[in-house]
Formats: sequence, C-alpha cells, structure tokens
Amino acid sequence: MINKNKTAIITGGLGGIGIEITKLFYKRKYNIIIVDNKINSAFKKVIFNKTNTKNTILYKKVDLSNRKSIKNLFINLKNQYSNIDVLINCAGIQHVDPVESFPDTKWEQILNVNLSSSFYTSKYVLPLMKKNKWGRIINISSVHGQVASINKSAYVASKHGMIGLTKTIALETAKIPITCNVICPGWVNTLLVSKQITQRAKKNNTSKMKEEFKLLKE
Ligand SMILES: NC(=O)c1ccc[n+]([C@@H]2O[C@H](COP(=O)([O-])OP(=O)(O)OC[C@H]3O[C@@H](n4cnc5c(N)ncnc54)[C@H](O)[C@@H]3O)[C@@H](O)[C@H]2O)c1
Repeated sequence: MINKNKTAIITGGLGGIGIEITKLFYKRKYNIIIVDNKINSAFKKVIFNKTNTKNTILYKKVDLSNRKSIKNLFINLKNQYSNIDVLINCAGIQHVDPVESFPDTKWEQILNVNLSSSFYTSKYVLPLMKKNKWGRIINISSVHGQVASINKSAYVASKHGMIGLTKTIALETAKIPITCNVICPGWVNTLLVSKQITQRAKKNNTSKMKEEFKLLKE
C-alpha cells in the first residue's frame, strides 16, 4: 500500500491546465495519479524535479473516451490505494465546425471525453470516498458551460452538461463530507486553444495575433 498522504486523481493531468494542478497538489504532499493518454516533456519535468520523496506521482495511460478502460482503472486503483480523496476531472478536447457539418465521430468523442468520462470517474470514485467518509470532486468546465459560441456545439453542450452533472452529484452527497464543485475558466493559452488559433489563421489567411483577438471577443 502507498503512504498515508491524501491522494488525488487528475484526469488530463499532462495538459496545459492539468500539469499546473498536478504541480500544486504534488507540492502540497498529495500522492498524484495522473490519468491521461499521452506522455509529454512537462510530465518528465514534474517527475525529475521532485523536491521530496514523501509523496508519489503515478501515471496511468487511459483513453478516457472508453468507459471500460475507466472501470478497469478504478478496479486497479482500489487494490493499490487505501484512499482516494480528490478527483479532478480536467481532460478535455475541442473541435470547431458548424452543426450541419460537425463530424458525428467528433461529437461522440467530445461528449465522451469532456462529459461522460467525468460521470464514470465519479461513479467509481464515490464508493471509495464514502468508505473513507471524505472526498472532493472538482470538475473543470468552462465559460462555455454558461454561454455558447458558434461552431462549438459539442464542446458547449459537454461543458453545460458538466455543470448539471456537478450539481446533481453535489445534491446526492449533500449530507456526507463529500463535495462536488465546478470551475469555469476563461481563455488559458494551452494546446487546446493554440490549435484553434493556428487553424483559424490558416483558414482565414490571417495572422495568429489577429485570430487571437477575434477569439477573445467571442
Ligand atoms: N485552455 C482554455 O482556455 C480552457 C478554458 C476553459 C476550460 N478549459 C478546460 O480545461 C481543461 C484542460 O484544458 P487545457 O487547456 O489544459 O487543454 P490541453 O489540451 O492542454 O489538455 C487536455 C488534456 O486532456 C488529455 N486528453 C484528451 N483526450 C483524452 C483522452 N481520450 N483520454 C485521456 N486523456 C485525454 C490530453 O492528453 C491533455 O493532456 C479542459 O477540460 C478544457 O475544456 C480550458
């Protein structure tokens, strides 16, 4: 069994926002379980720049669009960890197209990664949190959980759904020391955003800076 520190699962923990959450929780002596489907250099930096050896970082390569993989992840974690205290659902993807030409596969993939994965991680973590009589679930939605933008139907729908899911879990756990909250960030310059800027600059034959300004106005 792993040490007695608190343990946090961070999905998308290798992404632009996720890696910062990872670093913060690691500094605060949490054992970290990063659930992502890629390895990047930022992860290696986090691992090699460790300042203490009291807490651990574990990387689990999981495709969060696959509910069976999520179930298997939790079956394995249950055997390894006596407590999972914090779950942060941060993984997310984007695709931009008008509804009538939005690829079906992209719609399904975005709903699966951005919304359904958080349903499944919550479903499997809640019994573990209830056993330990404590838990925190933090969902990363977006300003697009509250307002829409054109051409982002799947993202906007998934992020609105994330808020509804959060409210429901918060009500279902209201009488026990488990909370479920949602955060709705505005623009953060990560890969998720820079990809959109590059695509738009190419499509409109303009500069990335112009597209950045246009994007900020939406
Ligand atoms: N960047 C922004 O401006 C912004 C604004 C509001 C909300 N958000 C939300 O914040 C969260 C993090 O976004 P980010 O900007 O850091 O993006 P990012 O692209 O840098 O990180 C997303 C992470 O999710 C992981 N991921 C994607 N698909 C996956 C899959 N199928 N299985 C496992 N992991 C998968 C990626 O590997 C990546 O590490 C997302 O939910 C995003 O919607 C971002």
